[in-house]
Amino acid sequence: MNIPFFDLSRQYRGIKKEIKTEVARVCDSGRYILGDNVSAIEAEVARYSGARYGVGVASGTDALYLSLMAAGVGRGDKVLTTPFTFVATVSVIEKLGAVPVFADIDSRTFNIDPSAAETCLKRKSKGVKAMIPVHLYGQCADMGPLMRLGRKYGIKVIEDAAQAIGAGYGRKKAGAIGDFGCFSFYPTKNLGAMGDGGMITTNSRKRAELLKKLRGYGANGRYVYDAIGVNSRLDEMQAAVLRVKLRYLDKWADERGANASLYTGLFNKAGLAERVSLPFIATKCRSVYNQFVVKVDKREALRKHMARDGIGTEVYYPVPMHLQKCFEYLGYKRGDFPRSEEAARTVLALPIFQGLKKSELNRIVSSMAGFYNR
Ligand SMILES: Cc1ncc(COP(=O)(O)O)c(C=O)c1O
Repeated sequence: MNIPFFDLSRQYRGIKKEIKTEVARVCDSGRYILGDNVSAIEAEVARYSGARYGVGVASGTDALYLSLMAAGVGRGDKVLTTPFTFVATVSVIEKLGAVPVFADIDSRTFNIDPSAAETCLKRKSKGVKAMIPVHLYGQCADMGPLMRLGRKYGIKVIEDAAQAIGAGYGRKKAGAIGDFGCFSFYPTKNLGAMGDGGMITTNSRKRAELLKKLRGYGANGRYVYDAIGVNSRLDEMQAAVLRVKLRYLDKWADERGANASLYTGLFNKAGLAERVSLPFIATKCRSVYNQFVVKVDKREALRKHMARDGIGTEVYYPVPMHLQKCFEYLGYKRGDFPRSEEAARTVLALPIFQGLKKSELNRIVSSMAGFYNR
């Protein structure tokens, strides 16, 4: 039997009845946009994350885009972020006519390094209006020093928490630390819809109201507009699915955490600790393991070997943003962010989804041992 990198059907099997009931209820209600399920999931995700307000939008990408708009970022402004992320973190900056500015990552956590961010701000602080730290793989960036930088330089902090719903940082949770928290409900996320979806959390009523206006064409009343907005709404069907899944989110995150611990034990037992560098979780952080990412050498050969053993793996991400063709115009070159480049060469994501069996974890580690110990 093959072991897929990700298998959503296993999760669905356990909640099929509840999902079908709730989706049927939406069908019967005749209300498909901005109804009761959307208001409820906005309040529930906000409460779950420890933020005051939630604003449902059409995707994680739109959550970032609308947050930047609400932070007043526009043409010619600069936005500081990490080059080691998913493309949407950076493309939304460009879409507003602003300029992405990069600071390298901490090579242990893969998240933006606050001291690199400060060095960058010292050099380029003029015009930097916002910062987007990304909580990669389910672990929060080092938000304490980053928030201090935000205050010191007078810039807004927008958390890209697309991969990190529920992740802990000290006593806080992802999405409730910065000025805005952006979640994605893409199906493979820990809280995944059955289609696209996203949400912004914030502690400011004024910002929540502005975001609601911007997601609905900029309307201030019926067919009256005092801002230029977009159409980006979470729909009732997705909200109903998310409400069911939210009830299981902590349990599923615990399962992912348990899989991560099992991996660690198995790697040590297989004598692979030298060859495979396991995830590093910072003291202040509680990861929700949206991904289980190790660093390896001979990655491409290893992936081929594992594929021959029927095991799916992924690489998040093989090319850092400063080396992508679409961002060539920014003028960066190879060597500018060596830690991101090294991560891009060596990271490998292993299956971690809930429902993965212990025997499957065993097979994954044995396959890797078979490659390195031959
Ligand atoms: C770090 C990060 N940012 C942003 C996004 C964009 O989210 P979406 O796919 O919902 O637009 C994703 C999801 O793929 C992501 O992983």
